[in-house]
Amino acid sequence: MNHHINRRTAAKLIALQTGAYFLSSHNTFTMNKTMQKRRIPSTLEEIPVVGLGTWQTFDVGNSAAERAPLKEVLRALIDAGGSVIDSSPMYGRSEEVVGDLTTELNIKNSIFESTKVWTEGKEAGIRQMDDSMRLMQAAPIDLMQIHNLLDWKTHMKTLKDWKAAGKIKYIGITHYHSGGYAEMENIMRTEDALDFIQINYNLQVRGAADRILPLARDKGIAVLINRPYEGGNLFRTAKGMTLPDWANEFDAHSWGQIFLKFILAHPAVTCVIPGTSKAKHMLDNVQAGFGSLPSNVHQKKLIELFS
Ligand SMILES: NC(=O)c1ccc[n+]([C@@H]2O[C@H](COP(=O)([O-])OP(=O)(O)OC[C@H]3O[C@@H](n4cnc5c(N)ncnc54)[C@H](OP(=O)(O)O)[C@@H]3O)[C@@H](O)[C@H]2O)c1
Repeated sequence: MNHHINRRTAAKLIALQTGAYFLSSHNTFTMNKTMQKRRIPSTLEEIPVVGLGTWQTFDVGNSAAERAPLKEVLRALIDAGGSVIDSSPMYGRSEEVVGDLTTELNIKNSIFESTKVWTEGKEAGIRQMDDSMRLMQAAPIDLMQIHNLLDWKTHMKTLKDWKAAGKIKYIGITHYHSGGYAEMENIMRTEDALDFIQINYNLQVRGAADRILPLARDKGIAVLINRPYEGGNLFRTAKGMTLPDWANEFDAHSWGQIFLKFILAHPAVTCVIPGTSKAKHMLDNVQAGFGSLPSNVHQKKLIELFS
């Protein structure tokens, strides 16, 4: 049994895996320990190391059938001590679903709300960010990021004004593949207002570790990691492979936990935001926020295994 969860939780995990158990507000998980946290360098505020992405998975309609499973995902995140939720106006109805469900669950005070601006032009950017605040029912928004660096010079000015006015707490920029690294690096070197970057990094695609992650560490910029499972490809690659027994040495008991812990072992990383539509996967993912992390030797072995 994983020694970072109690017996009651383990029983629920097993039940969840068999589909026999659904979380309810009366049956919340009691973790023996709180999820690990890391500091945002610009303020020293701490955030839990495992969060939740919402691309595609939270783009659903109004029906209870569509929304109930996502409520359980959110509950699993919060019950484990997680808080970071990442969205974007690019993700269809996701901002609205996050806003509705976090209000219904009465967890607004427990979450770190992150979204993005993804349009061109100053006025369009302001309109979109006002919409995000309304849809997410969040004021202030914790983190506002410029999605894929689109029209970043224009939005950066607005974000500085909004931060000064208290409408957002942190400013960030995002990208998701190597084509954006050079420009991201340039912004990180020149923009002192930057609190966060969000970038892709995982066991299969490790380019961000060459320059972006060391630079974030040097400059004191917090890092969210997107596409931690390479959009799910890592699970397809691992299919049929036996879980290495040495994963026990860093308290990982599933492929998901191994993949997330590999990322969290990088000292520049603040939080990882896997996307999921399933509570049982959220329960798996949050476990990466507990226990020890892979050593350099473990990391090398993992890279060899997946290369
Ligand atoms: N440019 C940008 O700013 C940018 C770009 C890309 C992504 N992002 C952000 O980063 C987040 C994460 O990236 P992503 O969603 O593209 O990809 P990802 O997190 O690498 O992979 C998501 C996939 O993994 C599956 N999964 C999650 N947990 C699992 C588990 N424990 N076991 C088995 N399968 C599991 C999910 O399926 P199930 O639903 O079945 O769990 C889903 O198909 C996004 O949701 C978004 O918030 C930002």
